[in-house]
Amino acid sequence: MTAFATVDYEKYADGVAVLTLSRPEALNAFNVQMRDDVYAVLEAVRDDRDVRGLLVRGAGDRAFCAGADLTEFGSAPSQVIARQVRWERDVWGLWLSTDKPMVAAIHGYCLGSGVEIASVCDMRVAADNAVFGMPEVGLGLIPAAGGTQLLPRLLGPGRALEVLLSGRRFTAGDALRYGFIMRAVPADVLETTALTLLRTVIEAPSTALAAAKRAVREGLDLPLAQGLALELRLASQFA
Ligand code: COA
Repeated sequence: MTAFATVDYEKYADGVAVLTLSRPEALNAFNVQMRDDVYAVLEAVRDDRDVRGLLVRGAGDRAFCAGADLTEFGSAPSQVIARQVRWERDVWGLWLSTDKPMVAAIHGYCLGSGVEIASVCDMRVAADNAVFGMPEVGLGLIPAAGGTQLLPRLLGPGRALEVLLSGRRFTAGDALRYGFIMRAVPADVLETTALTLLRTVIEAPSTALAAAKRAVREGLDLPLAQGLALELRLASQFA
């Protein structure tokens, strides 16, 4: 296990790696240090040939992640520095471009950036006790880690707007109905359920997994004809 200041990173012998958001005293709120730590882990996941898939979870029994760290609001670097750092360390871009399968195991509070972190994973499994929500608009902000772009793609624009504009909290049962999560399970079997899903997925050849991810992710941004051409191009490598 590698311990960073705000996350833990562990690799198992079967190719599964586990990223644990680990600030349980602050419900795993996402702060600047966590962004840097997650970036380092994602680079390791991308570059380590032994890693075939990633499980993302939250430490403690209360939350996956309760959103951006509210104590850093107003104390973050200036706009100019923030943009420069973003350019050098685009954690969300790295997350979305990682071609290895990723599963989020969600329990307790999953708010704001928590929902965004779950959204950049490929699959989501949640405990029955999970509570989801996007509080940003109610705080006079908008999501800035992909929420306005990823949620419409995952929930459809109508439901995404309802969730984003109302800030309404919703349950694991709702998230299941919206198609945001793949399964809702009792908290005590969350981890094994998510690990089983990930292990089943990574039995497939990694080149096929990577190509399928690319076809879906990039295809969503393309008109259908171009998406079909992309699929054909990616499929041709297996001919
Ligand atoms: N940023 C920083 N700290 C946070 C946090 C966040 N987003 N969310 C929770 N915490 C901290 C609390 O300040 C508290 O710290 P303390 O024990 O030092 O006082 C600790 O985590 C536990 O949270 P607490 O509020 O006492 O628990 P609760 O059960 O009463 O409420 C929540 C839980 C999630 C409803 C509540 O913490 C909350 O609303 N958090 C903010 C959520 C949010 O708006 N996130 C998105 C920001 S864009």
